[in-house]
Amino acid sequence: MPNVTVIGCQWGDEGKGKIVDWLARKADIVVRFQGGHNAGHTIVLNKKTYKLSLLPSGIIRGKLSIIGNGVVVDPLALINEIDILKNQGLKITPELLKISYSATLILPYHQLIDVEREKQKGKNKIGTTGRGIGPAYEDRIGRRALRVCDLYDIENRKIFLNNAVLHHNITLKGLGKKLIKASDINSLLDKVAPIIEPFVDDTVEIIHRENKKGKNILFEGAQGSLLDIDYGTYPYVTSSNTIAPQAAIGSGIGPSNIGYILGITKAYTTRVGNGPFPTELNDQIGEKIRKKGNEFGVVTGRKRRCGWLDSVLLKYAVKLSSINGIALTKLDVLDNFKEIKICVSYKLGDKIFKTLPTSAVFMNKVQPIYETLEGWNACTKGVESLNKLPKNALKYIKKIEKIIGTDISLLSTSPEREDTILIKDPFIK
Ligand code: GDP
Ligand code: IMO
Ligand code: MG
Repeated sequence: MPNVTVIGCQWGDEGKGKIVDWLARKADIVVRFQGGHNAGHTIVLNKKTYKLSLLPSGIIRGKLSIIGNGVVVDPLALINEIDILKNQGLKITPELLKISYSATLILPYHQLIDVEREKQKGKNKIGTTGRGIGPAYEDRIGRRALRVCDLYDIENRKIFLNNAVLHHNITLKGLGKKLIKASDINSLLDKVAPIIEPFVDDTVEIIHRENKKGKNILFEGAQGSLLDIDYGTYPYVTSSNTIAPQAAIGSGIGPSNIGYILGITKAYTTRVGNGPFPTELNDQIGEKIRKKGNEFGVVTGRKRRCGWLDSVLLKYAVKLSSINGIALTKLDVLDNFKEIKICVSYKLGDKIFKTLPTSAVFMNKVQPIYETLEGWNACTKGVESLNKLPKNALKYIKKIEKIIGTDISLLSTSPEREDTILIKDPFIK
């Protein structure tokens, strides 16, 4: 059985959590490979809602869940999330949850700097989740990060911490903020280290061992392709690579083993935070989508910006990740619209663009060109097969497949696990 990699094809919140949980029935292991607790993955099971930020969504089904080396881990957020989920009745044991000893730690100064920098930028802010994601990844690349393994090497931890604090206090001084003391952070780490220790492991070794045994591994992406640090709508992006190659980098599996690449896409588009969004609808239609789709951020509670499906972006995301098939989610949200539009190109002045503009400034100026389809005005929730869908809903799906040149493998028609139509099983070649 091959592995499966799940990638968000828009600006995040495509329904990755629901799809990963659904696929996890066949997976033995679920691996997170980038991002941190900026992610908010929702799983609804018999009307009970689970919100996961750091923990792989496989934990809900009691599958071996791995936080890979590409993830940034805030130890306090991790402990808190484990507590919340345990209180919801989940089993989270060191046998089920493994954290890479090489994952980067998010420490309190990262969050502080994230928030303060955003304040400084004023109306030009990125609109980050304020979780310290960017500053933590900067430290990793700047070779001054503390990693999970450093929690257990007291002498080196002090040296690394002093180095990092020295660096960040220069910024904090410049921002007119209170300086941080390495000793305070060190005491905090003394407290969290023993709580996390039982979960820490050599995850590269585990992943390779299990892969060799033929176990099914599911790689769970966070954020979305348009938030990718290299290929997204820079600078309005997150600080990690969110596209498929990162599944290999952030887990250690090796690029030929990431398996079937499933791109998750909403039947429309949303975005939280700032940045260009050509198909954004600042009108009653956008409001209707937000209401019906309950488009409010899991992490920050912010209103998500809503608009029609943008096939220019989707085609780009398909290319970047070599997407093998799409999981189209939230089709039910479009159940009661007279007309449904798909953006097929952009216009600026007399020029037509069929690909993504090179800069966010430019992208802000383009106008979407739409193809309009008739709505279906019928309920799709819980429909069991493609041929039972309303005729116009099926037409919409076929139109998307034709425009992007990629098949739809899964269709989701409600937040609930079971309201999913399987067209092609990603686990079967
Ligand atoms: P993720 O970050 O990609 O995991 O997505 P989020 O959990 O942040 O946001 C997706 C939201 O849509 C969650 O509230 C899900 O419960 C919900 N959802 C997922 N699939 C569907 C669907 O097919 N229909 C509807 N109505 N909601 C869905
Ligand atoms: P999931 O995994 C949607 C957005 C933030 C902001 C930008 C940078 O739930 O799909 P960051 O805190 O990462 O530095 O913020 O990225 N963002 C997300 N948007 N879904 C997410 O994750 C996101 N994670 C970050 O809103 O615009
Ligand atoms: Mg989310």
